[in-house]
Amino acid sequence: MPETPGDAILVTGALGQIGTDLVEALRAKHGQDAVIASDVREVANHPFVEEGRFTRLSVLDGDAMDLVVEEEGVGTVYHLAAILSATGEKNPELCERVNVGGTITVLETARRHGLRVYSPSSIAVFGPDAPDRAPQVTPLNPTTTYGKTKVTGEVMAMNYWKQYGVDTRGIRYPGLVSWKSPPGGGTTDYAVEIFHAALNEGHYDCFVGSETRLPMMYMDDAIRATLELMDAPADSIGEARGGYNVSGISFTAGELAETISERVDGFTCDFKPDQRQVYADSWPDSVDDSVAREEWGWQAEYDLTRMADEMLDRLSS
Ligand code: NAD
Ligand code: SER
Repeated sequence: MPETPGDAILVTGALGQIGTDLVEALRAKHGQDAVIASDVREVANHPFVEEGRFTRLSVLDGDAMDLVVEEEGVGTVYHLAAILSATGEKNPELCERVNVGGTITVLETARRHGLRVYSPSSIAVFGPDAPDRAPQVTPLNPTTTYGKTKVTGEVMAMNYWKQYGVDTRGIRYPGLVSWKSPPGGGTTDYAVEIFHAALNEGHYDCFVGSETRLPMMYMDDAIRATLELMDAPADSIGEARGGYNVSGISFTAGELAETISERVDGFTCDFKPDQRQVYADSWPDSVDDSVAREEWGWQAEYDLTRMADEMLDRLSS
């Protein structure tokens, strides 16, 4: 039988793009001391490291994770540590080791200690055979190593729920656009870099073509989706618990550049596709999120213009 879990929340990979926003939101909701941020690295002058509770922790070290869970009275893990697609395709062995190995560590720790787990998936679970508007249930045949690790993560999460009753939940995040932290080596990073480049250089060389359309989401929507999913009653969570499709905004790189040029005088963008174009082309244009809407009431709030206005406003100030 698992031990009785505590109330504290452990966030792995907390210094990354999502963790930077999620830790702040969790601390606002549950209290400053309730949330332990962790990462394999430290970042000088980062507020989590300097001010809040922070511990250096690799998700490949099960003993260290056990110790943190026991000593800090952890009851829930938000497992964000991962290697993203662009970095992962350059180093597939590392991507498999961290993404699959790290998720096993978290799920095993959760099984032993009776923890709840949030473990995100990605639109990268889909492959070229998925419909342009990818449904919740469709064959998952990703061509990237990163995508394969995400499919494995979804399957493992479902198995731990079915076999051991571990309350695992996840979202297939679209490409996320945010201003607080730089993106961590993904294919969708252009949708963040373009805002910085527009304000700093007035020009961006975009690494995917102008017609490339992908599912995207503003970070505030992604954080709200995460908290709403974790707050949803257990009996509302069905077979999609390993990775719910959530839809935000679907736009082409050209439409994004056009939206920014309407707001930043003189901004220009050239499109110079590199290897990341291949990964982007293997993913769907948008996702059908009707299951998330029905089961836990998901509804996005940001469209392209609202997101662009907020990104430019936040980055300017
Ligand atoms: P990120 O790359 O910005 O951050 C990941 C963090 O994990 C980094 O701070 C890194 O130092 C840390 N890390 C790497 N190896 C580690 C290890 N062995 N132990 C502990 N920490 C380690 O990633 P993110 O964008 O914040 O993504 C978080 C999760 O969301 C990942 O599972 C990712 O696949 C998923 N996701 C992100 C996006 C997106 O657009 N950001 C989209 C879909 C899915
Ligand atoms: N934004 C992520 C990436 O591009 C998708 O999971 O890797």
